[in-house]
Amino acid sequence: MIRSKILGLGGYLPEKKMTNADLEQMVETSDEWIRERTGIRERHIAADHELTSDLAVRAGKEALKNAGISADSLDLLIVATTTPDDTLPATATRVQSLLGMKKGFAFDIQAVCSGFMYALSVADQFIRTGTVRRALVIGAETLSRIVDWTDRNTCVLFGDGAGAVVLGAETGSGDKTDTGILNIVLHSNGDYRSLLQSTGGVSSTQKVGYIRMEGREVFRHAVLNLSEVAGEVMQQTGVSPDEIDFLVPHQANSRIIEGTAKKLGFSMDRVILTLPDQGNTSAASIPLALYEGVSSQKIKAGDLVLIEAMGGGFTWAGGLIRF
Ligand code: ACO
Repeated sequence: MIRSKILGLGGYLPEKKMTNADLEQMVETSDEWIRERTGIRERHIAADHELTSDLAVRAGKEALKNAGISADSLDLLIVATTTPDDTLPATATRVQSLLGMKKGFAFDIQAVCSGFMYALSVADQFIRTGTVRRALVIGAETLSRIVDWTDRNTCVLFGDGAGAVVLGAETGSGDKTDTGILNIVLHSNGDYRSLLQSTGGVSSTQKVGYIRMEGREVFRHAVLNLSEVAGEVMQQTGVSPDEIDFLVPHQANSRIIEGTAKKLGFSMDRVILTLPDQGNTSAASIPLALYEGVSSQKIKAGDLVLIEAMGGGFTWAGGLIRF
């Protein structure tokens, strides 16, 4: 069967950093509270001139370079984002143009913090059916543009960034020993949309709105949904937790990550953590963490990696990739 193999990874974080000490000057909070409750020390903030597509292009170029291929050999480009450049057209088409990708097609996917996993799954389906041979999947966000910098419940959590993955079709045997994406399980439940949403949007208020969240409730659902979907994807693929080398979770809160890892029986040295220096970069967090895992040489060829995410909607997902 055809598998989607990871050919290269890239990441980009804006130069400007915002520390917890900076936030202490903006809202009533403390470095101690933020570190204890979230695990975050600092996050990156896009410069005024930097758009989501600019971040995506930087990450995409690096992923292409690491894959050793040029943009004109891509058949598909997907950008997962909650913070598109404009209402229309899709951010992915600007990225396509800036990368110099002349053929194929490009579009955006919106599933908030699960966006990258949804995009990866869609690209994987195109590759498995033989429609596409090479795809670039990017998670990119300028969340700082929809953060209410007067709301201490949310403004301490988020950061900007982009991560990218190049996928290529490869023939596998169809079992769990294959290299590439073995399985991705997606879920959503719109009944919970009010627990994590923006205060506006194109059709509702004609303004982009700000992020609002019932943190405690989101937290509760996150640990439950993430451990369930991780169990589901492992069961479907016939993999047990001890066969997995690394857990690469969506980076929202260290307590959620630790809680999920504990439920699954993973020690923290098998978890890739970028949260302390990046905060929650929504759709960018998993590709950035994969990029960090591979470039720090923790994740090596042959390793089996479990990825999982949960975001607004609610949306949540789990996946297994062999490097
Ligand atoms: N600094 C100081 N105090 C604060 C801050 C802050 N930045 N934010 C909230 N508080 C206060 C609250 O006002 C509250 O005070 P009160 O008891 O007087 O009312 C107190 O701290 C405790 O608030 P809780 O909300 O109960 O704090 P909790 O321990 O739950 O931590 C947090 C809050 C960090 C938001 C946590 O609930 C969380 O991480 N939730 C999940 C968030 C998440 O993962 N979101 C993203 C998932 S989807 C996505 O990525 C888009």
